[in-house]
Amino acid sequence: MGTRRVLVTGCSSGIGMAVAVRLAKEKGFKVCLCEAVVATMRDLEKREPLERVAGDTLNRSLEIRQLDACCEDSIRECVDSLQDRQVDVLVSNAGVGMIGPLECQSMSDMQGLFDTNFFGLVRLVKEVLPDMKRRRSGHIVVMSSIMGIQGLLFNDVYSASKFAVEGFCESLAVQAMKFSVKMTLVEPGPVGTEFERKVYEDAEKMDLAGVDEETARIFREIYLPYSRKVFNSLAQTPEEIAEQTLQLITAKEPPFRHQTNRVYMPMTALKHADPTGRLPLDTFYKLLFKHDSLFTASLGLLRMLQKRAGKSSK
Ligand SMILES: NC(=O)c1ccc[n+]([C@@H]2O[C@H](COP(=O)([O-])OP(=O)(O)OC[C@H]3O[C@@H](n4cnc5c(N)ncnc54)[C@H](OP(=O)(O)O)[C@@H]3O)[C@@H](O)[C@H]2O)c1
Repeated sequence: MGTRRVLVTGCSSGIGMAVAVRLAKEKGFKVCLCEAVVATMRDLEKREPLERVAGDTLNRSLEIRQLDACCEDSIRECVDSLQDRQVDVLVSNAGVGMIGPLECQSMSDMQGLFDTNFFGLVRLVKEVLPDMKRRRSGHIVVMSSIMGIQGLLFNDVYSASKFAVEGFCESLAVQAMKFSVKMTLVEPGPVGTEFERKVYEDAEKMDLAGVDEETARIFREIYLPYSRKVFNSLAQTPEEIAEQTLQLITAKEPPFRHQTNRVYMPMTALKHADPTGRLPLDTFYKLLFKHDSLFTASLGLLRMLQKRAGKSSK
């Protein structure tokens, strides 16, 4: 594979940082001495951790630039600053989370989340797709989520933003294909990053005064402990997501959808197995409210299977 320029958003931490560094260390992206991986972040004051992990790739195969996914001018300036405005691969990764009862979220916070998670992607694609179409090549890789396929209790708005991402990409992919531009949705389950820390920190501080007692109890006493157990049992590392993203970018025929965590495949299969939508709803309801011991036991089993799968793939 020849050298391609990859632009990654949201590289101040987590998955974006891991993807940028993993790509910069890969041979195919090293040939060109600079700008092979354009690792972007909205606030350059936060560049130090990335500089540290980038090591000797910094200013060789990895360049750090400013880009705010919520600002069209910032995106344009960043792309304009690249030679020939060339972006061969866009990794749209910047995103924010939100959990909690709907009654506790303000409209402006929800709109802010959509502005980053959905319209951030739309702005980026608007900027790079016309050039990709003209060149008749390119790959748009989008960090979606398993919650872009299956909604989850108390993740209503976050999940909706990822559904929007999936619908947008699914609609655009056919047109892109006509111009030989590839699109891939990466769908991770839980990943241990700042994201997790931030959403739980917000949840702890959340003012539940505006919500009825039963909902507040379900959130605090059922959802939060379960969600923590899921993270502790099943979370992948950002490096695992980065490795899989590299495989997707370098694949000859990358898939349109890629779930990073096999453990979630039965859950998404449930959704497709029943067009009425009852099967996944009933299953989630029973696991959360009726069979919590079964839920905990199945997590233990899944963790064991995940470890085994990890060992056998090494
Ligand atoms: N962690 C998970 O469990 C998980 C699971 C599935 C999917 N994902 C998705 O993976 C992506 C990366 O998340 P992560 O887990 O790596 O979380 P993270 O460590 O919190 O990283 C999110 C990144 O997005 C950046 N960002 C936020 N708003 C931005 C904006 N307007 N412009 C540019 N950058 C912006 C953040 O920058 P600042 O430092 O400036 O805030 C940060 O660099 C997100 O799209 C998320 O939805 C995460």
